[in-house]
Amino acid sequence: MPLLTYSPYSLKNLNLKNRIVMPPMCMFSSDESGWVQDFHRLHYPTRALGGVGLIIVEATAVTANGRISSQDLGLWEDSQIAGMKGLVDLIHQFGSQTAIQLAHAGRKCTSSDPVIVAPSAIVFSNEYRMPHALTPDELPGIVQAFREAARRALAAGFDAVEIHAAHGYLLHEFLSPLTNHRTDAYGGSTENRTRLLREVLAAVHEVWPSDRAVLLRISAADHAPGGIDLDEACRIVDAVKDLADLVHVSTGGLLETPIKIYPGYQVSYADAIRKHCQIPTIAVGLVTRLEQVEEILGNDRSDLVALGRELLRNPYWVINQDGRTRQSELPYPTPYERGRG
Ligand SMILES: Cc1cc2nc3c(=O)[nH]c(=O)nc-3n(C[C@H](O)[C@H](O)[C@H](O)COP(=O)(O)O)c2cc1C
Repeated sequence: MPLLTYSPYSLKNLNLKNRIVMPPMCMFSSDESGWVQDFHRLHYPTRALGGVGLIIVEATAVTANGRISSQDLGLWEDSQIAGMKGLVDLIHQFGSQTAIQLAHAGRKCTSSDPVIVAPSAIVFSNEYRMPHALTPDELPGIVQAFREAARRALAAGFDAVEIHAAHGYLLHEFLSPLTNHRTDAYGGSTENRTRLLREVLAAVHEVWPSDRAVLLRISAADHAPGGIDLDEACRIVDAVKDLADLVHVSTGGLLETPIKIYPGYQVSYADAIRKHCQIPTIAVGLVTRLEQVEEILGNDRSDLVALGRELLRNPYWVINQDGRTRQSELPYPTPYERGRG
């Protein structure tokens, strides 16, 4: 039986050679410019050479004060396009397709920008600054920033964009009742809390070709009373799924409370959202072994599987299981052919 892990997957313009995704992982390896550096030119193409089907470039800021740190990558101005284009070309050259995660850090911004923003003036923790609650007339600026960043991502040649609405950053802060205490049209009901995300996704579609995929990353649970739980996550996805092609299902990040981690700890969320909302999903969360990927795909629990920290440790995971290639028919980089097990 051929392994499901290595079966191709198509969605719009994505024609992935296998089901393995490198999820976005901040490398904090840029500088105040937000430009791509040599580190990125080595880091991402190495995973392409290692056979990853889809590489999602780390959280990339849509505004300077939307950075998680001062070392984030950025697409908040046109000067940042050229470096990204070089990176995309390298990833393509070494055989992977690539998406970019567009992000606004909201109240979790730690860069030196004077003002940080959120739906409501609620601080993340003692180590963070108090955010300014965005006024209704400031919200179009946020939407515009995502639209412009998507336009730049297109100019750089990315195959897909992923909108970051997870992990306690700005869009997640709007989605969760724990961080969104607004009384206007952007707070309260699920419909109101999803309004900004819908506006952002709609704006991205204005500049993003309809034949290219739009991914959405969410946290399907806040793991706290009164926060988002699986039922609410399904309602959120139902409210925006006409504007997204694939949901990348994570959890947590809104609060400091640590979450319980064990192999496959988030897979059940990707599974439930896929079934309830009838939308393709990426499962992620301590998936490290081929058998886990086979189980997830074989039981139709997600369409794709992301390996984060495992791909940091082991960039050649896809082509090189257990120190040797399991299936001789798998594509292997020609220069490495003599290293095949
Ligand atoms: C170093 C590091 C940086 C991360 N940065 C991001 C990020 O930029 N955007 C994001 O959505 N998730 C980020 N994550 C979360 C990962 O995408 C992934 O969901 C998480 O690591 C769980 O998968 P794993 O157990 O396979 O590592 C990061 C995780 C790590 C370890």
